[in-house]
Amino acid sequence: MPLPFLASLYFDGLPPWFPDPFVALKYTTALGSLALTKWYTSGRSNPSERKLHGRVVIMTGGTSGIGAKVAFELASRGAQLCLLTRQPGNDPFLVDYIEDLRSRTNNQMIYAEQVDLSSLYSIRQFATKWIDNAPPRRLDMIVLCAATLTTPGHGRAETADGIETEWMVNYLANFHLLGILSPAIKAQPFDRDVRIIIPTCSSYIASPKLEPEEVMDKTKYWTPRTAYARSKLALMVFAKTYQKHLDAYKRPDQLPMNARVVIVDPGFARTVGMRRWLTRGSLWGLFLYVVFYALAWLLLKSPNMAAQSILFAAMDAGLGRGTGGKLIKECMEIDCARKDVEDEEVAKKLWEASDKLIEKTEKASAIRRAREKKEREEREKVEEIESLVETIKKGKTKEGQKKKKTERSAE
Ligand SMILES: NC(=O)c1ccc[n+]([C@@H]2O[C@H](COP(=O)([O-])OP(=O)(O)OC[C@H]3O[C@@H](n4cnc5c(N)ncnc54)[C@H](OP(=O)(O)O)[C@@H]3O)[C@@H](O)[C@H]2O)c1
Repeated sequence: MPLPFLASLYFDGLPPWFPDPFVALKYTTALGSLALTKWYTSGRSNPSERKLHGRVVIMTGGTSGIGAKVAFELASRGAQLCLLTRQPGNDPFLVDYIEDLRSRTNNQMIYAEQVDLSSLYSIRQFATKWIDNAPPRRLDMIVLCAATLTTPGHGRAETADGIETEWMVNYLANFHLLGILSPAIKAQPFDRDVRIIIPTCSSYIASPKLEPEEVMDKTKYWTPRTAYARSKLALMVFAKTYQKHLDAYKRPDQLPMNARVVIVDPGFARTVGMRRWLTRGSLWGLFLYVVFYALAWLLLKSPNMAAQSILFAAMDAGLGRGTGGKLIKECMEIDCARKDVEDEEVAKKLWEASDKLIEKTEKASAIRRAREKKEREEREKVEEIESLVETIKKGKTKEGQKKKKTERSAE
């Protein structure tokens, strides 16, 4: 059979049903280019593996996008997950999410703690509860995946404490959380491989220079893009300084620090955050996103592929040795694209300004909470008296009616 076919090819040329070689080449090249582009934009898969049974992981942003994939993979390997979520633990969606995660990963050690990262008070409440535990609680990993962004075309938004939202959630919340959890990290036994994983974004490269005083007050150069980039640059500067802060700690056992910060750039992915950014938070934008979804599929990673570098940071044995503060992208170490990430002067100013801002804001919010509590108590007291008066009035009316009835029946 092949021989007659080859002979007919040789003597008579290509059969009529065979596509024009030029057209075939054109389609093959187009499909090949698409496949190559998709392969390139998908990025590398995590080559490392690690058993995580019994390891305790605190995680923010574990309910959506890249963080949800990371949470799934860590839980599948047996990690005990403490998810810090904006919603209260009894929120029906959160309950469903955790039940689903438990059953898919066959791991019951997953629970949620309500921590709103836009509130310094909420962060302090959780973190002080954690460090107040005696003896110190086991803590193997902190993964800080939560982030927020203001969609293009929208104005500057502030938290209830009056801090610009992106600065607060993407940077200051992590600064505050790790600041309070420091004693818990330092108290871990020497043989424990402790990792603090901080996702960043390559947008930090285009960020304006960090001028902390200006960033925290009303900056003149605010746009959604610069605010996000600036918060990520600040986060990276802080991550490097936090490693130095940990390294400078003299352990009671005189052994070197065993906690390492790993900064990770997961790459651009099709997550809720990215969709909000691309669609500008509008219905028209969403419509265009659906129409051009093929383009998003081709050029952006899936959340699962974006999670790979974070999983590498969590599992690679090499990252548990040597110096911390490395930047990981596509499951390998890369250099920072900006010198000021390592600039000690910038880092010092940022740390001091952040401390000052937290102190000032916490004082103001404590006064506000005390005033609100007093007002609430007074309101409750007035309501209690009013309801008492109401009951007495009702009692008197009933008594009057009863008296009239008895008088009438006596007549
Ligand atoms: N996606 C990308 O293309 C990309 C690119 C580079 C870097 N990154 C980085 O990768 C990380 C994950 O990104 P993503 O796109 O997967 O994020 P995402 O889908 O937008 O999810 C953000 C997560 O942060 C949580 N969050 C937001 N505000 C919060 C608050 N006030 N309190 C508590 N939690 C809050 C959200 O909780 P809710 O579920 O309650 O909203 C959600 O779980 C981020 O650090 C991001 O900067 C992403």
